[in-house]
Amino acid sequence: MRRTLGNTDIEVFPIGLGAMPLGIRGSLPLQDAVDVIHAAIDAGMNFIDTANVYCTDNQDIGLNERTIAQALKSIDRNDIVVATKGGLERPQGRWERRGSPQRLRSACEKSLQDLEVEAITLYQLHAPDPLVPFTDSVGELARLQSEGKVLNIGLSNVGYDELNEAMDITTITSVQNRCNINFRLDITNGFVDYCKENAITYIAYSPMGGGSGHTALRDVALLSELAEKHETTIYQVVLAWLLQKGEKILPIPGASRISSAVSSAHAVYIQLSDADIQRIDGLGAN
Ligand SMILES: NC(=O)c1ccc[n+]([C@@H]2O[C@H](COP(=O)([O-])OP(=O)(O)OC[C@H]3O[C@@H](n4cnc5c(N)ncnc54)[C@H](OP(=O)(O)O)[C@@H]3O)[C@@H](O)[C@H]2O)c1
Repeated sequence: MRRTLGNTDIEVFPIGLGAMPLGIRGSLPLQDAVDVIHAAIDAGMNFIDTANVYCTDNQDIGLNERTIAQALKSIDRNDIVVATKGGLERPQGRWERRGSPQRLRSACEKSLQDLEVEAITLYQLHAPDPLVPFTDSVGELARLQSEGKVLNIGLSNVGYDELNEAMDITTITSVQNRCNINFRLDITNGFVDYCKENAITYIAYSPMGGGSGHTALRDVALLSELAEKHETTIYQVVLAWLLQKGEKILPIPGASRISSAVSSAHAVYIQLSDADIQRIDGLGAN
């Protein structure tokens, strides 16, 4: 059932928890967020995706990471993989790319403190910074890894060129890009398969269409039909579809409610037929 993370010997449940909705709106009480994390883990998940910038602005950088650290205090965290990211900042709530070696180093050191760990299992470059040579950003992640602060390196919001450049510098364990039924370019252009060929886990973010996009799934009649056929929900259908696109895919649905996290974990038990998958493929996204 579990999937191997990249080139490592780390085994992860096939669906991870996207922790962004727990902190991004800044309004979820800490205990509620902790309860969602515990429910996800109880349902089998052991991979949690976060970032230093899952917060409201630069004043509370690390909020989401501190919430996760709090949740993991009361349980055995040995089996839990927390993947975080550096390379963005949130001035006045905006999302801005900041990928210089100095910024990445200080962000990583703060993440170590906020997560209360000595090494980050998977540290991801959140996005390439157009003002910084990409090789400088990746080179700094490789240095952090050689110092033992980071165990494995991931990239996010990248394509073939960046991935190839990064693989010339160091081993890349994961790529995290947006991928869902309405935005499936990485499936159709072969990038998901390319990751697999290189033993890289493809982490599919916003698998439901994103924080507000997930409600649009309700308008897709085919999903409702398949949900009825498999006695499940439209959200589980889209996760099952993603999972069946390759054994290196790891969808990370976000959740701010316990029921969302638990329902997403249970999607691993839905087996779509080839015909079901072809029909979803035929929905005609890009
Ligand atoms: N690398 C990047 O640049 C990047 C960008 C965006 C996101 N991400 C990562 O990807 C994760 C997922 O993306 P996302 O949170 O933007 O969007 P998403 O996973 O597409 O959708 C999240 C929303 O869908 C609802 N949902 C999730 N599972 C459900 C289920 N089984 N049944 C019913 N509703 C369900 C949740 O509602 P409730 O909130 O009501 O529970 C949640 O707010 C983020 O949490 C973050 O870790 C990364």
